[in-house]
Amino acid sequence: MPQYQAVKGTRDIFPEEAARWKYVEGVVDALASLYGFSEIRIPVFEYTELFQRGIGSTTDIVGKEMFTFLPDPNGRSLTLRPEMTAGVMRAVLQNNLLASAPVHKLYYIGELFRKERPQAGRQRQFSQFGAELLGVSSAAAVAEVITLMMEVFRSLGLHGLKLRLNSLGDTDDRLRYRVALQDYFSPFADILDEASKERLEKNPLRILDSKNPALQELIAGAPKLYDYLNEVSVHDFEKVLSYLRQRNIAFDIDYRLVRGLDYYCNTAFEVTSSELGAQDAIGGGGRYDGLARELGSSADVPAVGFAVGMERLLMTMEKQGLFEAIAPQSPLVYVVVQQQELADHALQMVYRLRNAAIKTEIDLAARSMKAQMREANRTKASYALFVGATEFATGLYSLKNLATSEQTMLSLEAVLELLRELPAREPLKL
Ligand code: HAM
Repeated sequence: MPQYQAVKGTRDIFPEEAARWKYVEGVVDALASLYGFSEIRIPVFEYTELFQRGIGSTTDIVGKEMFTFLPDPNGRSLTLRPEMTAGVMRAVLQNNLLASAPVHKLYYIGELFRKERPQAGRQRQFSQFGAELLGVSSAAAVAEVITLMMEVFRSLGLHGLKLRLNSLGDTDDRLRYRVALQDYFSPFADILDEASKERLEKNPLRILDSKNPALQELIAGAPKLYDYLNEVSVHDFEKVLSYLRQRNIAFDIDYRLVRGLDYYCNTAFEVTSSELGAQDAIGGGGRYDGLARELGSSADVPAVGFAVGMERLLMTMEKQGLFEAIAPQSPLVYVVVQQQELADHALQMVYRLRNAAIKTEIDLAARSMKAQMREANRTKASYALFVGATEFATGLYSLKNLATSEQTMLSLEAVLELLRELPAREPLKL
């Protein structure tokens, strides 16, 4: 076994899989752009307080899962981003972007880091694509981000995903609900686990998020947040649902849905895939009108967004056979050198072909003809172009169609002319 292994919870993506990522990323780019979202790229690490304040100190992410480090003994604590929303909001506030345009529609594809116990579908380094709509969180805005997310799934050909929604109400709704939850759980304080006991005081809503099997029955009997919503919150939620119905987006209402991050208010949602096993959440999001103020903004910034786990998305696509037609691009022509004295001449030809945007490959290791032909076949090249003494002398090269074995003699100019017309073998689109 080699001395160095990838760190547990991280993984390598080799070319065949990278082609799948690119394909998915292409669909995300195209749809985000169609919906008017522009790409944002933010740093991979931020000051730790950003996540503590933004995501909430009683959440699992902040309490247990952050990769936090001190850059130097007197430095401020830094954390590898465990999610994007707080960083995107920080970037928008810091650069006062809302002064130039009241609404910003941003999307991203990037790496995240959470110190979770690795298992299928759960890594310590993973990727998300997501979108954040900042400056407005009307029902139309909420429905817009949900529609974009569902359209990505639809365009990729995914089926059988379940969208669940809940309303977490506004701040007042949640304050009333918080009291109701404390009243409900307090008599059972003795049977609560340590984490839930702590949450009972600080943030009882988080108890509902507990995965502890011993608490599930108790949690199931807890009051429903929905019963504490005021009329405006209910109306807003209903409006979101009516947009989804108009767009034929199927959903279930799940009154127990609480997301793992504290910044949400009103509509929150999650998408699950039955193909994924225990870690079945493929994406989620919601409104987060309070985040900007939590991060010190003097103005309210209503906002809504979602993020989808790329690895889980790709796993689901794989299980549904959606990648069968996608492969890395093959070269169009493989230049085969018959005599090594002609290798430099062949290389010059390769660059002529490439300069004409013809995808060309050549063996750089000066191997035998047989080995070169093997490579041409392994890389699934469409043509082999032979460079031998006769070819060199006459200026006419033998071009072989590797699928039909047909062979013709052509000048380099004629080869260029012929192959320029043919596109390189594109991976087939779904
Ligand atoms: P989240 O639910 O924490 O939300 O993560 C979104 C998705 O990222 C999950 O549904 C899952 O697919 C994927 N994911 C999370 N943790 C892991 C992991 N350890 N390994 C693999 N995949 C993982 C957020 O991050 C929010 N920022 C979403 C959002 C955007 N809300 C508003 N705007």
